Amino acid sequence: MTKHFKAGIIGTGSAFPEKKLTNFDLEKMVETSDEWISKRTGIKERFIIDENMPLSVLASEASKKAVEDAGINVEDIDLIIATTITPDYLSPSLACCVQKDIGAINAAAFDVNAACTGFVYALQMAQGLIVSGIHKNILIVSAEALTRAVDFKDRNTCVLFGDGAGAAVISRVEDGTGIESVHLGAIGEMGSVLTIPCFYSTEEDRSKRGEGMDRVIWMDGSEVFVFASRIMSDATISILEKANTHIDDIKYIFPHQANIRILQNAAKRLGVPMERVYSNLETTGNISSASIPVCLDEASKKKMLQKGDKLILVAFGGGLTYGASLVSWSK
Ligand code: ACO
Repeated sequence: MTKHFKAGIIGTGSAFPEKKLTNFDLEKMVETSDEWISKRTGIKERFIIDENMPLSVLASEASKKAVEDAGINVEDIDLIIATTITPDYLSPSLACCVQKDIGAINAAAFDVNAACTGFVYALQMAQGLIVSGIHKNILIVSAEALTRAVDFKDRNTCVLFGDGAGAAVISRVEDGTGIESVHLGAIGEMGSVLTIPCFYSTEEDRSKRGEGMDRVIWMDGSEVFVFASRIMSDATISILEKANTHIDDIKYIFPHQANIRILQNAAKRLGVPMERVYSNLETTGNISSASIPVCLDEASKKKMLQKGDKLILVAFGGGLTYGASLVSWSK
C-alpha cells in the first residue's frame, strides 16, 4: 500500500546585503523622521543592495543555505521557482541565474510574479507538483531588491522598502506534517493602487512619478493599508475554514511584513495576541515576497519551531494579490 504523503518545507535559508539604511540615514535624504517612520510603520532600518551586486547573488546565497539545511544534494533539486518583482533581467529569469550559480544542473527554472504574495503562490505550485509526483525536490527562492525600484525623493514609498532573499526546499514528507492547505486570490480590479511600470506606461503613470522616475513604485498607501488590514484576517479565516482548524491551534502566524499597524489590525480582528504574530519589520522593512521565507528561516534558526507546529503564512501585495497557507512544520 502506498504511504500517505504531503509536501513539506524541509529546509530554509536567507541572505541580506551588507549595507544598512537606517531611518536616520533617510532623514538626511528626504523630509521624514525616525519618529514618523517608527510610529507609522514599525520600521527602524532595512538592508540596501550595493549597486554593483546582482540580486541573483543574494538569491543564490539564500538558496545554498536552504539546500544545506534540507540535507540534500543540489543535484537533487528538480525545479526552481523564483519569486520577485525586481529581477536583474527579465531574461534570463532569476530562477535560471540561481540554477547556474548553485549548480542545480537537474532543475527546470522559472520566475513567478505575484508581488509580495509570491512565496505563498509558489508554495501552492510546489505543493501540487510534489503531491502529484511530477517533481521531488523544489527550491523556492524569493528575492527582492526593492530599493532599486523606489524614488528616494518620494517619502511615501522610500521609507518602507528594503532588500533581501529567503529560500525554502519543498519535498515529499511522510510523517503527517507538511502543507495542509493553500488559499489564493487576486483582485485585478484594484491593480492601479500599486504600480511599477516596465516596458509600457501611461501619461497618468508618468504624472504620478518624479522626473526621470518612470519605473519606480507608486502606491496609494491608505487604499493598500485598508485592503491589507482586511484581507490578512479574511484570508486567514478562509484557510482555517478550508483546513477545518481553529485559530487557537495555530502556534504562529507568519504575515507578510509591510507595516506593523497592518499586523496589529489583523491580529485584533482574529483575536490573536501579537506574541503569536511573527515580525522582523523593525530590521528589514518590507522585502516583498522574501519576507515570509526570511521570517520562517529566522524562526527556525532561533529554534522557535518544532515539528508538527501549525503555522499560518499569509500575504497580500501588488496585483492586487493575496494568499494564505496552513503548514504543519516538517523540520
Ligand atoms: N515621513 C513623514 N511624513 C510622511 C511620510 C514620511 N515618510 N510619508 C507620508 N507622510 C505624511 C503624509 O504626507 C501626510 O501628511 P499630511 O497629513 O500633511 O498630508 C501624513 O504623513 C499622513 O499620511 P498617510 O498616508 O495618511 O499616513 P499613513 O498613516 O496612512 O501611513 C503608509 C502611510 C505607511 C504608507 C501606510 O498607508 C501604509 O503602510 N500603507 C500600506 C503600504 C503597503 O503595505 N505597501 C506594500 C504593498 S506590498 C507590495 O506588493 C510591494
